[in-house]
Amino acid sequence: MGTLGSFFSGKNIVITGASSGIGKDLALVFAGFGARLALSARRKELLDEVKVAAQQAGTEALVYPVDVTDRAAMQAMAEDVLAKWGHVDIVIGNAGVGGLNPSDKFDLDIHRRTYEINCMGLAYTLMPYIPSMIARRSGHLVGVSSLAAFRGRPNAASYSSAKSAQGVFLEAVRMDLRKYGIKVTAVHPGFVATPMTDHDEFNMPFKIGVRESSMLIANALKAQKPRFLYPWQMKWLVRFEGLLPCAAYDWLLPRVSGQKDDIQARTL
Ligand SMILES: NC(=O)c1ccc[n+]([C@@H]2O[C@H](COP(=O)([O-])OP(=O)(O)OC[C@H]3O[C@@H](n4cnc5c(N)ncnc54)[C@H](OP(=O)(O)O)[C@@H]3O)[C@@H](O)[C@H]2O)c1
Repeated sequence: MGTLGSFFSGKNIVITGASSGIGKDLALVFAGFGARLALSARRKELLDEVKVAAQQAGTEALVYPVDVTDRAAMQAMAEDVLAKWGHVDIVIGNAGVGGLNPSDKFDLDIHRRTYEINCMGLAYTLMPYIPSMIARRSGHLVGVSSLAAFRGRPNAASYSSAKSAQGVFLEAVRMDLRKYGIKVTAVHPGFVATPMTDHDEFNMPFKIGVRESSMLIANALKAQKPRFLYPWQMKWLVRFEGLLPCAAYDWLLPRVSGQKDDIQARTL
C-alpha cells in the first residue's frame, strides 16, 4: 500500500451521499485503503451494495439509510457511530442535489429543497461530531461544495448560491475549530461524471471520471488542504472568471455555458 493508503488505513470515516457518484466512489477507494466506513444516503439497497464491496475489500461498513434533511435522524446516526467506534476521524458531507432554476420561471420549492439538502444537510451532517472531536482535539470535517460556488451560474441561482453558502460556512467553521486541532476542508469539484451530470442541459468542459475525482480528493484530505478546487483547468477558469467585471461576466457566461432557451426548473 502506498503512502496514501497507509494514511487512511484504520481511519474511521463517515460519508453522506454514499449511494452514488462521488460519495460512493470515495467509499470504495477508502475501503480499499482499509478505512472503517459509516455510509449514509436514502437508498438503502445501493448502500448495501457498497457495504458488500467494502466487506470484500476486508473492511467494515455501517449503513444508515437516512435523509440528510432529517436533523434528528442525522444526530441519531452520529450517536450510533460514536457509540460503536468511540471516535470518528473524518466526516465527509457530500450528499447534495444539483438543479436548474431559471429566474424567469423560478420555482421556490426547488430553491427551498436545494438549500435544505445542500446547506442544512451539511450542517446536520458535520455538527454532531464536533463535541467528540473537541474532546479528542483532533478530527477532520469535509464538505463537498462545487466550483459553481464562486459566481452565480446561469439558470442555477439556487444551486450556485447554496454551494457558495456551503463554502463560506466551511470557512467560518474552519476558523472557529482551528484552536481545537480540528481540520476543515471545502472541496470544490468541477464537472465529474456521475448520475448528477449524466445529461446534456449545458456544456461540461474538462469533465473527469469519478475515480480520478476520488484520488484527487483523497490526496487533498491527506494534505489537510483548507480548500480544494479541481480539476486544475477548471480551477484556473474559475479564477479567471473571478476577475471579470459583471457586464463581461453576464455577457460571456450564457454564451459559453451552452444552455438552451427552454430550460425548465428541475433538480438533477
Ligand atoms: N458531479 C459533479 O460534476 C459535481 C460537481 C460539483 C459538485 N458536486 C457535488 O458533489 C456531491 C455529490 O454529487 P454526485 O455528482 O456524486 O451526485 P449523485 O451521483 O447524484 O449523488 C448524490 C448523492 O447525494 C445523496 N442525496 C441526495 N439527496 C439526499 C437527501 N435528501 N438525503 C440523503 N442523501 C441525499 C444521494 O443519495 P440518495 O438519493 O440515495 O439519498 C446520492 O448518494 C453533491 O454535493 C454535488 O453537488 C458534483
